[in-house]
Amino acid sequence: MKLGVLISGRGSNLQALLAAKKEERLPLADFRLAVSNKPDAPGLDIARSFGLRTAVIDGSKYRGRRAEHDRAIDQVLREHECEAIVLAGYMRVLGAEFIAGWRNRIINIHPSLLPSFPGLHAQRQALEYGVRTSGCTVHFVDEGTDTGPIILQRTVPVLPGDTEDSLAARILVEEHHAIVEAVALLSQGRVNIEGRSVRVSSGGRVG
Ligand code: GRF
Repeated sequence: MKLGVLISGRGSNLQALLAAKKEERLPLADFRLAVSNKPDAPGLDIARSFGLRTAVIDGSKYRGRRAEHDRAIDQVLREHECEAIVLAGYMRVLGAEFIAGWRNRIINIHPSLLPSFPGLHAQRQALEYGVRTSGCTVHFVDEGTDTGPIILQRTVPVLPGDTEDSLAARILVEEHHAIVEAVALLSQGRVNIEGRSVRVSSGGRVG
């Protein structure tokens, strides 16, 4: 499966994917390129260090023209023959038209147990609410904010004295496992959407 990865910043989830690919844990995932909406995203250097092509579609050049920005991203992904998209720390909202063009072919990693704490600062929201368990979720992207069908989740304990940073760091470790596992399942064609639910069919190697 040919994949494009959208990033905005650090790129540690992208790194986890590219390392897994290098270690032959994602044999059916063919990463075609990484696209960033920020020209200075450190994740771009990570992509280059793995020999992955990069593209920058600079969001600051498309102020107030979101649909045009989306179309530029769509174009570069199609030029590279992508069949599905991984949002790995992509901090910009994609428009309905873009999402409709990639229906059930975009996945996102979010640092909470959805449907709790969607949107920004998920780890801070979890701490402020006082939950004892948080985690991360990989889900399909629909028109809502972090509302699409859930592929998999991993839990993380919230410990006494946790700060936003310490909780985020503990969740991030699980994100890296979750994103690799989800891309493995997706690339093996084992992820089936049934209404709001996702069924993972058995067989094959998860990696
Ligand atoms: C991760 O916590 C991800 O869940 C969220 O943004 C962060 C991106 O981290 N959507 P990185 O760029 O993959 O290091």
